[in-house]
Amino acid sequence: MAGRTLLVSSLLVFVISVTLAFAKHHTAEERGKAHFNDPAFAGGKKSCNTCHPDGRGLEGSGAKTKFSIMGGDQNSLEEAVNVCIVNANRGNAIDVNSTEMQEMVSYIKSLGAQ
Ligand code: HEC
Repeated sequence: MAGRTLLVSSLLVFVISVTLAFAKHHTAEERGKAHFNDPAFAGGKKSCNTCHPDGRGLEGSGAKTKFSIMGGDQNSLEEAVNVCIVNANRGNAIDVNSTEMQEMVSYIKSLGAQ
């Protein structure tokens, strides 16, 4: 009986932990923010947050379609994000249609709404 109680309680603790872990970043915007703060995102060496603390300076970026970063021209926010991933974070460009990119874009767009 004691063994079964222990098993049931362990299972309960496990289920609660997993639920909490998932609930932590439950919206696309929150997952995007987590990528933004993650130094290892897209294989990079520093986080976006290092140079854009709390997204400051990017409040208008979500509404733009033309960017000019580091001497180049970018025609979408996704392209702009990839330029920073490669040249600033020293990571690898990610697919513009990937979930990670959509989450990152959601976070950047949310900055303008605050
Ligand atoms: C080493 C510093 C550095 C890091 C790290 C960095 N950036 Fe940038 N970022 C810049 C600079 C410099 C510019 C161009 C100047 C500007 O517009 O602020 C820029 C521009 C941008 C722009 C365009 C701003 C606009 O509206 O014109 C976006 C969007 C952006 N960064 C997103 C990101 C994201 C997302 C990451 C992480 C993947 C990131 N940056 C990491 C330095 C950095």
